[in-house]
Amino acid sequence: MVEIKYLGHSCFLINSSAGKFIIDPFITGNPKAPVSVEDIDVDLILVTHGHKDHLGDAIEISERTGAPVVAIFELAMWMQAQGAKVIPMNFGGTIEFNGAKITMVPAVHSGDVVEDKIYPTGNPGGFVIEVDDRRIYHTGDTMVFGDMKLISELFGPIDVMLLPIGGVYTMDVVQAKYALKLVKPRYAIPMHYDTWDVIRANPEELKVQGVETVVLKPGESFEI
Ligand code: NI
Ligand code: MN
Repeated sequence: MVEIKYLGHSCFLINSSAGKFIIDPFITGNPKAPVSVEDIDVDLILVTHGHKDHLGDAIEISERTGAPVVAIFELAMWMQAQGAKVIPMNFGGTIEFNGAKITMVPAVHSGDVVEDKIYPTGNPGGFVIEVDDRRIYHTGDTMVFGDMKLISELFGPIDVMLLPIGGVYTMDVVQAKYALKLVKPRYAIPMHYDTWDVIRANPEELKVQGVETVVLKPGESFEI
């Protein structure tokens, strides 16, 4: 059994026989985060791209817990220079961690770290996590794209798809419905909406035949 706990925005805790994973740990500064960063204790950190609302507290959590960060090569090197322990990888690659298989897949977005200046930290992506006979696809920030079907065919079938619906920076609900038709997961969990006014969306509109939509409030969990 795998537990998927939503921590707001695009941040999820995945608890399985392979340990505790956190994806896109944007806790500090996230108005919807139901926990504080000191409460986060994980074995592995996954970061889809370098934007602040995804990179989040990854470096601090890695330094405190010793958990490595899985990220695309350039972002991993940048994070290592900031003190994080890292596992660099790239699109189409799969790593194993405690029996879980993690594959990095592309996203249609941008991915550089923006701070005092812009650091070129590689392309944005998503992850397919295979653990305990379940497959979870976290798309990262992206618009809908045709290769989602290929991702589903190569690395699926997908049990749970975590996908953005907030628009402006990512897919909106209309595109997300299209993405569900391409990927055909059993369950869909919407993310990346209502964190701020600019990405307001109604998750109840994410309805596609053959897919069960599970709307999680920050702090809520889904077990599969
Ligand atoms: Ni982004
Ligand atoms: Mn984002």
